[in-house]
Amino acid sequence: MTGLRELRVVNLTEKDLREVMEIGYRCFPDPYPLTLLEQLYKSDPSGFLGVRMNGKLVGYLICTMRWGGVGHILSIAVDPQYRRRGVGRALILKALERLRKEGATCVRLEARKSNLGARAFYSTLGFKEERELPHYYEDGEAAVLMWYTYPT
Ligand SMILES: CC(C)(COP(=O)(O)OP(=O)(O)OC[C@H]1O[C@@H](n2cnc3c(N)ncnc32)[C@H](O)[C@@H]1OP(=O)(O)O)[C@@H](O)C(=O)NCCC(=O)NCCS
Repeated sequence: MTGLRELRVVNLTEKDLREVMEIGYRCFPDPYPLTLLEQLYKSDPSGFLGVRMNGKLVGYLICTMRWGGVGHILSIAVDPQYRRRGVGRALILKALERLRKEGATCVRLEARKSNLGARAFYSTLGFKEERELPHYYEDGEAAVLMWYTYPT
């Protein structure tokens, strides 16, 4: 059983980026390289969130504010052996809270069309599918654009 204490979401630092990259390489066909993570981190350090268990980073999320009160979740991944324990949920909830504080009225994200697990995960958290973005990924796959709107 995962204790609630272990699900504390923390802000990540530049030192954590290598671990973020390693999770990405275990989870995605097209992971973010370290150089891109470093760039993203410099542009918005507070958008990097993570969950550690026994000192090990088991999941991360990258988010940032866009123009016009729109929050954007750029990436989220949980190491395969730590899934379905609420880590992803805790990361999304913390990101929604952080973006809200920065003035977001809604939050967008893109998921691969074939990533039915992630799409179901986002739906359980209140995200709605809006439309497809054709050829969104380098390999030609479409994304599904999803939106979360804060309750008023
Ligand atoms: C998507 C992802 C971040 C979810 O993380 P997680 O820690 O396993 O998610 P949680 O345990 O918080 O799940 C919360 C709820 O979401 C739903 N959910 C999560 N994963 C799901 C899946 N694969 N299929 C269907 N529903 C899912 C369930 O309702 C789950 O609650 P339950 O376990 O009580 O049934 C994780 O599967 C992952 O890292 N996938 C690979 C990377 C990826 O696809 N990232 C998203 C790119 S768009």
